[in-house]
Amino acid sequence: MTDPAPRAGVIGWPVDHSRSPLIHSYWLDQFDLAGSYERLPIEPDAISDLKHILRDGGFVGANVTLPHKESAADLVDWIDPPAAELGAVNTLWFEGDRLMGANTDGYGFLANLDERAPGWDRPGIKAVVLGAGGASRAIIQALLHRDFDSVWILNRTIEKAEALAERFGRRCRAGALSDAATILSEADILVNTTAVGMKGEGSFDFGLDGLRSGAVVTDIVYTPLETGLLQTARGRGLTCVDGLGMLLHQAGPGFEKWFGRRPEVTESLRDHVLKDLGRTA
Ligand code: ATR
Repeated sequence: MTDPAPRAGVIGWPVDHSRSPLIHSYWLDQFDLAGSYERLPIEPDAISDLKHILRDGGFVGANVTLPHKESAADLVDWIDPPAAELGAVNTLWFEGDRLMGANTDGYGFLANLDERAPGWDRPGIKAVVLGAGGASRAIIQALLHRDFDSVWILNRTIEKAEALAERFGRRCRAGALSDAATILSEADILVNTTAVGMKGEGSFDFGLDGLRSGAVVTDIVYTPLETGLLQTARGRGLTCVDGLGMLLHQAGPGFEKWFGRRPEVTESLRDHVLKDLGRTA
């Protein structure tokens, strides 16, 4: 008997908005592979059954999105050490009967910058990260894997920035979002990890005049692709990297684990997802 076609999916609540099925289906078609990738809505009360749900459904693994990334980290049989440090997983796969978990958000963040702003991570540079939530944690961890001099964490609620700075160690410093205008003068890269600018809503009340002319500005928000922050940065002639590439790159490692081929993030995949965002975002 031949093995059934591998089945994977994305677990979340709600999960209708997820673009992951679009990305994985594109790669499945491109490689002409038998397999599927589905949306798996799982209510918060049911997440404790994660392993059985996947096993009983014949899944080879899954992505995990909000609000289940932290719960899934507690439910796996093995967790990749960086994901354990974050306490959050976004990629699950089986090895025999063991459910394994990793977090590819930081990888996706770095790969996007490497692709779209090559040379951005010169040794000794300084980063300013806006926000201190779950996305911020993954990004700070990723930045610290490169040769950064310092990472400023600025947050509306300063206590959360302080807690993160303490957790990630001496290269991190904490500040209030309201102090951004002055702290920005130190930045070689500015990263927005907050929801400010999503769907065109909200804006920062500081300008980017203090940023150095060679600075890179990146936003994890990708609806719209060109957020208000990126528009301002582009107006100043700074290098801008939108958030779509992070979404595309974070998907690659899971695809390879489940379907056995290493996918590429290409302009044509980007266009494919952009067309869908244009229709529904
Ligand atoms: P995620 O997992 O996407 O990071 P989160 O953990 O809820 O989401 O974190 C949201 C982040 O966006 C927080 O840093 C939050 O600031 P507070 O900690 O002060 O709440 C930030 N944020 C959300 N809305 C914001 C706004 N209108 N202005 C500034 N920061 C905002």
